[in-house]
Amino acid sequence: MTETGTLRLPPRIHVGFGVRHQLPVIVGEHGTRVFAVVDPFLARSPDFVTIVDALRAGGSEVAVYTDVLPELPVDSLTEAGGVATAFAPDVVLAYGGGSALDAAKLIAVLVAHGGVLSDYYGENNVPGPILPIVAVPTTAGTGSEVTPVAVISDPDREMKIGVSSHHLIPVAAVVDPELTIGAPPSVTAYAGVDALVHALESFTAADLPLDWETQLPVFTGQNLFVQHLALEAIRRIAPNLPRAVADGTDREARAEVAYGSLLAGMCFGPSGTHLSHAVQYPVGAITKTPHGLGTGLMIPYVLQACVPLIPERLAAIGAALGGTETDIRSAAQDAVDRVAELCRTIGIPTSLAEIGVRADQLPRIAELTLQSKRLVDISPIGSDPELIDTILQAAHAGDRSALRADTDAR
Ligand SMILES: NC(=O)c1ccc[n+]([C@@H]2O[C@H](COP(=O)([O-])OP(=O)(O)OC[C@H]3O[C@@H](n4cnc5c(N)ncnc54)[C@H](O)[C@@H]3O)[C@@H](O)[C@H]2O)c1
Ligand SMILES: [Zn+2]
Repeated sequence: MTETGTLRLPPRIHVGFGVRHQLPVIVGEHGTRVFAVVDPFLARSPDFVTIVDALRAGGSEVAVYTDVLPELPVDSLTEAGGVATAFAPDVVLAYGGGSALDAAKLIAVLVAHGGVLSDYYGENNVPGPILPIVAVPTTAGTGSEVTPVAVISDPDREMKIGVSSHHLIPVAAVVDPELTIGAPPSVTAYAGVDALVHALESFTAADLPLDWETQLPVFTGQNLFVQHLALEAIRRIAPNLPRAVADGTDREARAEVAYGSLLAGMCFGPSGTHLSHAVQYPVGAITKTPHGLGTGLMIPYVLQACVPLIPERLAAIGAALGGTETDIRSAAQDAVDRVAELCRTIGIPTSLAEIGVRADQLPRIAELTLQSKRLVDISPIGSDPELIDTILQAAHAGDRSALRADTDAR
């Protein structure tokens, strides 16, 4: 068990109904030229319009940039960087789901450092501070409002690629559950399950050997702080996500999921995520399915493979999910079953076949999964190709029993 801890967070975080009304004060602290990044749909939403009106009434000049495209193609961001640089903003207002928040981070990198985005792909390649970003999520969520990463697509690459650096962490996260109320059930389910996966994967992250005398990796694996936060995130999200999906106007459920998602982002920002994410990248590229659908589909299989490796951790998750098993191994299995049941309840597909992955594509998915070395290294499973194949086959068939028999034998 690790004895060191790392937290890297925005200096300011607000959460709760009504906190968006602080935005003029928060944004104003960073200047009067505001570059607002939002997708075209949310740009027309009354809440966004009200926020922009309030900023303008306070004397700010606000440029609203709405060309945020799904999957964030790199060329669209290069163009956005040019528009932003010409405006010469003091501060970026990032408003929307993970796509708009990630776009804002990358635009802020380009304004601050120029060049092309591929200069910054990977870890710790952003050379210094970027424009201050005030992040306002409307989904719950990716956690991008507090994390050091943004993910984009580049036609030269087979999979989406990340830019990870602590310089990408926004200066403020303003998490107002009111803004998530309009999110449709599928967006709520996919974003919400991804938040749960962030908590689950940071809680089960490997204890990485860190060299404190050199530059740390962006994602440091298991750490002291995350243990408490992740379990709390799980306790908040799990019982409330099905309620928020079933009835988007359930304010209590929306608030709990928004808070849980924020906590989950605070966990995986420093710790990292692992195998469900490593598999989602190639699966998302092949099937063009949303990020959260893929991570939510994979998480029961990944956790199943973890049962013999980290039973105590899984048992703690089981307790956070309301389980009462006292035998560690049974409690660990119960945790996996509860996560799988939750995913089913909110409509996450249960097999890779169901989303159009063919069996003959599994070997390439396995290869690409292993190429996400950073994620694979954080997994408690490690880079055992045989076990990864077994996980993929189980996920393809939609049946954990083969994996369970395999892991029971260990
Ligand atoms: N940077 C990170 O830490 C991180 C973590 C996980 C995922 N991501 C990235 O985030 C993206 C996914 O983000 P997302 O799931 O938030 O979805 P999204 O931003 O792609 O939005 C999905 C759709 O939901 C709509 N929407 C968002 N909020 C709404 C609301 N309140 N009411 C009505 N409609 C709303 C959007 O307009 C859009 O059409 C992916 O690109 C993924 O790679 C980033
Ligand atoms: Zn994720």
